[in-house]
Amino acid sequence: MKMVIMDDFDLMLTSIQATSIERLQPPVEDSKNSMIRLLNVSVNIRRLVLSKGVRGNLKNKLANNVQRYRKEKGLTQEALAGQLGLTSQAVSKWENAQAMPDISLLPQLSQILEVSVDKLLGYAAYDNQVTIYEEEYQTSTYYWGTEPNSACYQVLELMPPTRPLRLLDIGCGEGKDAVFFARNGYDVTAFDVSDAGIDKARSLADKIGVKLKVLKADIMDFRLDSRFDILYSSGVLHYIKPEYRDEIFSNYKQFTNEGGMHVFNVFVQKPFIAPPPEKETNAYSWKSGELLQHYHDWLIHSSPEVIFDCNSSGIPHKHAMSKLIAQKV
Ligand SMILES: C[S@@+](CC[C@H](N)C(=O)[O-])C[C@H]1O[C@@H](n2cnc3c(N)ncnc32)[C@H](O)[C@@H]1O
Repeated sequence: MKMVIMDDFDLMLTSIQATSIERLQPPVEDSKNSMIRLLNVSVNIRRLVLSKGVRGNLKNKLANNVQRYRKEKGLTQEALAGQLGLTSQAVSKWENAQAMPDISLLPQLSQILEVSVDKLLGYAAYDNQVTIYEEEYQTSTYYWGTEPNSACYQVLELMPPTRPLRLLDIGCGEGKDAVFFARNGYDVTAFDVSDAGIDKARSLADKIGVKLKVLKADIMDFRLDSRFDILYSSGVLHYIKPEYRDEIFSNYKQFTNEGGMHVFNVFVQKPFIAPPPEKETNAYSWKSGELLQHYHDWLIHSSPEVIFDCNSSGIPHKHAMSKLIAQKV
């Protein structure tokens, strides 16, 4: 048991490039609980360490998250620094990704900001079931089928992969669309918060014999730090809290190559359409036209709104959906 903990703990130290292991106090007295909590996240950190490219990204994620959760708590940098016994410059450096907090400060930081260390590090979703689809995806049948969404054919028409094109599928579910893109020659990365979903996406890619990079990530935590040509997402953007939409869409737009496209759809609220039967605590409604507003400075290829029947959860209901194809010119 001890060996396992040390192993994970060492990995955690490696991953966050702690400045000095010596500064860590032994798990005694009131630091004991904090240390235990820290060790509890170590399994998740191991996953981070093992995923390529994550280490470099960690500093940025931590920077964004410290700032985000500090602001959510209504704390200034000075106030946070004061509670930690540090200077405000130290906090400022973390938030600008110029430095990372010492590992021994993480439990205290997580307590003050009332957020888990996992979440601070940008991988909040590992332990909790944050999607109702986790269970639905655990059967061998494909809940959403294996046929691609019609929007995938629009991508193929508008931006065929006549040259290498990087495509990101945001909230790929069981991977039907991501696999379609990979099969048609795009260089595809896909993520979803559901373990079962990403496992099935990987299996589908293996079965078809195509390469697909699949990650587990929460859309609220995920930020791009490398460029893509196409961002694609179907039925997922309602998991972004309204107050984060500007920032997240700015990040998506910033890391899209010139000439690149975003092909998105999102459920929108209409007074004449009943709410969906699925009760999701992490879903937030969008208004008609709201998605389009994020793209006022891009070329809009199409932006229709459609109403369609749906039978998810086995209960017939209707959805209104905004669809958008926008290009960075
Ligand atoms: C309606 S399904 C759409 C799946 C896929 N895009 C498709 O069209 O087949 C919504 C997906 O969003 C995922 N999801 C839910 N909350 C999420 C979150 N916070 N971050 C990332 N994905 C999330 C679910 O696991 C699910 O796969």
